[in-house]
Amino acid sequence: MQGRLKDKAIMVIGSGSGIGAATVKQLASEGARVCVADINLEAAQSVADEVRDSGGEAHAVYIDIAEEDVVNRAFSEAVTALGGLDGVHVNAADLRVIFEDSDALAEDLAVFDRTLQVNLRGHLLCTRAALPHLLSRGQGAIVYTSSGAADSGDSTRPAYAAAKSGLNALMRHVAARWGREGITANCVAPGFVYTPEMQASGQVPQELLDGFQAHTPSTRLGRVEDIAAMVCLLLSEEARWINGQVYNVNGGALMP
Ligand SMILES: NC(=O)c1ccc[n+]([C@@H]2O[C@H](COP(=O)([O-])OP(=O)(O)OC[C@H]3O[C@@H](n4cnc5c(N)ncnc54)[C@H](O)[C@@H]3O)[C@@H](O)[C@H]2O)c1
Repeated sequence: MQGRLKDKAIMVIGSGSGIGAATVKQLASEGARVCVADINLEAAQSVADEVRDSGGEAHAVYIDIAEEDVVNRAFSEAVTALGGLDGVHVNAADLRVIFEDSDALAEDLAVFDRTLQVNLRGHLLCTRAALPHLLSRGQGAIVYTSSGAADSGDSTRPAYAAAKSGLNALMRHVAARWGREGITANCVAPGFVYTPEMQASGQVPQELLDGFQAHTPSTRLGRVEDIAAMVCLLLSEEARWINGQVYNVNGGALMP
């Protein structure tokens, strides 16, 4: 396939659904060869099949970013399948516990620990697995999915916000430490994105959707493609001089 990302080898972690799946499809449509990595292998395989059916190249790989040996194995598999690595989008988050992420007094420490284990420590494990491969190419790009929650000062979800805030710090560290060796690191921080899976579940209350719309100076809610577009830019050659930044993509809902 032709395109801005022609022949780039890119791994998207947490891409069996939502923002990650949309990013895989956009990357492939711009010419990248993509590894679709997720804890839900069946979902990853279905995304990879869709890309191949559209004439792109994609490989599905099992990964659990909570487990170091599994992360390292998944990166080895991805590098073998793609013949190297030019870029990584670390997008996975364990969102099953987000509604139990209450407040600092009531917080169940198991919820706090699990959130940090996947949403922050897991991103460090992916960073460590990715860097040697990117450095061996002489350049490479890492994009992490953060969240507006890192800066918004919510009255709930302290673990989620702490993990995303920590992720912004991890990203800046990577940018500062390896920028001179050709590595760029950036975060995309989505506002509320109404994913196809949320829509299909029908479980997001209409009042919540109305609330997000009311607080967003935009004509509509966020779509997965809005985030994918920014990730594709950050993984492209056009973004070689963009390093160490957090990009809020939120329709103007938060203007830090
Ligand atoms: N949707 C939103 O409104 C929104 C807003 C801000 C930030 N985000 C962030 O965007 C990212 C994607 O969210 P989404 O809304 O598309 O959700 P999603 O649940 O559809 O995507 C998350 C993916 O990560 C995978 N995953 C979960 N735990 C994993 C693990 N341990 N190892 C590997 N993969 C794992 C899931 O299977 C899933 O495919 C997350 O980092 C989330 O925090 C989402």
